[in-house]
Amino acid sequence: MAQNLPALAVTGATGALGGAVARLLAEAGVGHRLLARHPARLPSLPDVPVYAVTYADRPAAEKALRGVEVLFMVSVEEHPRRWEEQRTFVDAAAEAGVRHIVYTSFMAAAPDAVFTLARDHWDTEEYIRGHRITHTFLRNCLYQDVLPGFAGPDGVIRGPAGEGRLAAVARADVARAAARILARPEDHRDRTYTLTGPQALNFSEIAAILTRVTGSRVSYHNETLPEAIESRQAAGASPWQAEAWASTYAAVAAGQLSSVSQDVEQLTGTPPIRLERYLLQ
Ligand SMILES: NC(=O)c1ccc[n+]([C@@H]2O[C@H](COP(=O)([O-])OP(=O)(O)OC[C@H]3O[C@@H](n4cnc5c(N)ncnc54)[C@H](OP(=O)(O)O)[C@@H]3O)[C@@H](O)[C@H]2O)c1
Repeated sequence: MAQNLPALAVTGATGALGGAVARLLAEAGVGHRLLARHPARLPSLPDVPVYAVTYADRPAAEKALRGVEVLFMVSVEEHPRRWEEQRTFVDAAAEAGVRHIVYTSFMAAAPDAVFTLARDHWDTEEYIRGHRITHTFLRNCLYQDVLPGFAGPDGVIRGPAGEGRLAAVARADVARAAARILARPEDHRDRTYTLTGPQALNFSEIAAILTRVTGSRVSYHNETLPEAIESRQAAGASPWQAEAWASTYAAVAAGQLSSVSQDVEQLTGTPPIRLERYLLQ
């Protein structure tokens, strides 16, 4: 039997993170509604009301959020005007009377963050604060889940990360932390958590782990930032996308993604998973 209070809405549940959070909430009996851009792709969860919404559609979002007190707002897919769509969605939430937004931000979010996409996250955080809505910000490190995809077909990870370290977190640990917060949101009012894995690794170490786990040789090649942007554009990325991807590595080189946080363990009672163990699962 689902618990009733506070009225909770979850977005992004057709995606990996929001879907995992929705399943954990359902398992824990935490009642919620789902807001999805493509509801047909939602996992099947009994007794969960569903609303079709895109972040840019303010009237639909406002309607879907009426009666909601706490909103789990998953950041949407990256594009140059994401910040604007997310502002529209926050406006809709404010107008609908949402009291508390739990937002999936990014580690070291700041107006001048080296990782260019973390600047969007800062914008959304500021916008939520500006509305004086109670917030909980989950500043997630890069997901461990995406690291195998960083190696090219030749087994080489190329990027301007130098010897910088990365405290990548498993998406499943972010989901566990988010579900705990959403089960008792009042305990996490106006808090910012940094969700990382248990260790900070440089890309040579990440390549060595990928080699051990996959049995195929993976290596790391340090590029300059201009080389990284140029090679990604040569492979078909737009200038905006190429800069965003390359800046992930530059943020690692700058030490902005290296601090290991205890927040996953403090929130969930279980330490976050190590990269090698995650990859072997
Ligand atoms: N920390 C990291 O390493 C990392 C890596 C990648 C992404 N991210 C960020 O974290 C978010 C969640 O990660 P994830 O792995 O769950 O991503 P994901 O699997 O791509 O899921 C993204 C979710 O956002 C929804 N969405 C996208 N654009 C939308 C829009 N304009 N309006 C409404 N819904 C929209 C998608 O709906 P549809 O099913 O309709 O597309 C999907 O449910 C991502 O969206 C991205 O902002 C973080």
